[in-house]
Amino acid sequence: MNKIVFFGGKGGVGKTTCSASFALSCAMQGKNTLLVSTDPAHSISDIFEKPIGGKIINIDKNLDALEIDSGVESRKYMDGVRANLKNVLSPIIVKEIKKQIDAAAVSPGTEEAALFDKMIEIINDKSSEYDQIVFDTAPTGHTVRLMSLPELLGAWIKSLIGKREKALSIMQMANNAGKKNQVEVENDEVIKILRKRLENMENARKVITDNNRLSFIFVLNAEKLAIEETVKAIKILDTYKIKVDSLIVNRILPEDSVDEFWKGRKVLENKYLDEIYNAFKGKNIIKIPMLSSDMRSDNIKDLAKYF
Ligand SMILES: Nc1ncnc2c1ncn2[C@@H]1O[C@H](COP(=O)(O)OP(=O)(O)O)[C@@H](O)[C@H]1O
Ligand SMILES: [Mg+2]
Repeated sequence: MNKIVFFGGKGGVGKTTCSASFALSCAMQGKNTLLVSTDPAHSISDIFEKPIGGKIINIDKNLDALEIDSGVESRKYMDGVRANLKNVLSPIIVKEIKKQIDAAAVSPGTEEAALFDKMIEIINDKSSEYDQIVFDTAPTGHTVRLMSLPELLGAWIKSLIGKREKALSIMQMANNAGKKNQVEVENDEVIKILRKRLENMENARKVITDNNRLSFIFVLNAEKLAIEETVKAIKILDTYKIKVDSLIVNRILPEDSVDEFWKGRKVLENKYLDEIYNAFKGKNIIKIPMLSSDMRSDNIKDLAKYF
């Protein structure tokens, strides 16, 4: 497993449970581990029965945790953008651009962009400090969208740079017949900011597509819908060059049920397990048993040994 591990999957399949127990198993092996939740419906604090928030805190021996609040991050992110622009533009232009920024703040993708920024910041800043960084993510659709952002936003930022260059050249032509255009473009603060964003996005893409640095694990249950969704998600991630190398089949039923109902479920489960082995040939498949109770700080260690 690589230093950076993402846990993805459908809602309720056990992403938080598995990422928390994986992180704990790493910590128990003596690795300095950071567990990061990016799901707006945070639940690692429930599992560890400790308040965890936007600042890294220690929750167990060798184990730190953090819950990213994408709302807070996106407000910080937009404030940062506004402050940057205020420094470099005239008040009249700022007023106009502020309108555009406020529109951008509520436009789809902003929270994800901010969340992404924060994730990349953690990966870049904390990789030397920790031996293992584990991300507990939001349900599949959200995460797949998030992973596709660097590509989408990259194209969008490029088009903004093009527009800005055009606007500058028009302004220049009006001012002095276009003589200094090239120089002005290089010195333009808006272009500098946009180029910096583009660079961040390209770095982000490098990080998430680096199969030697980041592992993406999908959690699923031995059920029809979960299998179908996983097949689709892996295909989409593949188009963004993000490779899923391992799958966790969570909530495997006990072998020795005597009850007819559970025996029947076990037969069905085995059928779906066969399907899983068939559909995901070549991937590392880890099976985690169903425990008799919900995950809490006392029994999460029981699952850690499966990793
Ligand atoms: N192996 C397991 N055995 C028993 N309960 C489990 C197991 N894995 C998950 N659960 C329970 O299922 C629920 C959903 O799990 P969770 O990890 O929060 O899923 P997700 O993060 O994918 O939404 C929780 O109540 C959790 O305690
Ligand atoms: Mg969860």
